Amino acid sequence: MVSLTAVTAQNTLGVRAVQEIDPSIVEAQINAVAEDIGVDAAKTGMLSSSPIMEAVARTVRKWGFPLVVDPVMYAKSGDPLIRPEAMETLKRVIIPIAKVVTPNAPEASHLAGFHVETLDDAKRAAKVIAEELHPEIVIVKGGHLTGNESIDVVYFRDSGEYRELRAPRIDTKNTHGTGCSFSAAIAAGLARGLNPWEAIKLAKELITTAIKYSLPLGHGHGPVNPMAWLELRPIGRTLLRR
Ligand SMILES: Nc1ncnc2c1ncn2[C@@H]1O[C@H](COP(=O)(O)OP(=O)(O)OP(=O)(O)O)[C@@H](O)[C@H]1O
Ligand SMILES: [Mg+2]
Repeated sequence: MVSLTAVTAQNTLGVRAVQEIDPSIVEAQINAVAEDIGVDAAKTGMLSSSPIMEAVARTVRKWGFPLVVDPVMYAKSGDPLIRPEAMETLKRVIIPIAKVVTPNAPEASHLAGFHVETLDDAKRAAKVIAEELHPEIVIVKGGHLTGNESIDVVYFRDSGEYRELRAPRIDTKNTHGTGCSFSAAIAAGLARGLNPWEAIKLAKELITTAIKYSLPLGHGHGPVNPMAWLELRPIGRTLLRR
């Protein structure tokens, strides 16, 4: 189920126009689903303004479902997806209610307050974000880092423990939607009742497959293909039917 927060006019090259949805409509969409169908877990994507963030946070507090926050700031094309004045609200209102928050390297740099360029920086940033902004689990994603593996750092606030997610770096420009699909897959795993680490590991498998079978559409960054995982992985089908 989806609650639209903004309508974007975009293609593989860039975001041309954005129309935010009225915060009361964002809130009404979530309540409509929660009251009737129920919400086992959710993830956020583009939350461009403070009032939209406040509306989302109100519903999360009201219904108490586990939340995965993808702290979206810029599209793959580099276009901004958050108003500058909403950055503080993201930190103060949204990230503290997250079970899992999944910044990429540039987002982790903004949230931690220093430049994230190496695996070591990613580790330091994950800990700073967890301690200062208080989500349960921080994943600093490695898509924007370099090296022949794409390594994500997972930090668990309560235990102070680090784990790593590793996958071969796939040579493609078609990575539009990697972060969105990854965070959605984590939320889906949590909704199925997996523990957070199981949900995160499965999401890494899904996104690696989705990038491998990404689609060369348009003249910019084509989309990843999350359906490939369902078609190729029997284990995925088993888990989803459970
Ligand atoms: N070329 C690649 N090969 C393998 N894995 C990748 C590649 N690029 C990204 N990933 C993985 O995809 C996931 C998403 O990370 P990434 O840093 O790309 O997110 P993002 O920048 O938020 O993406 P989005 O375009 O959706 O905003 C991570 O698990 C990351 O390691
Ligand atoms: Mg992203």
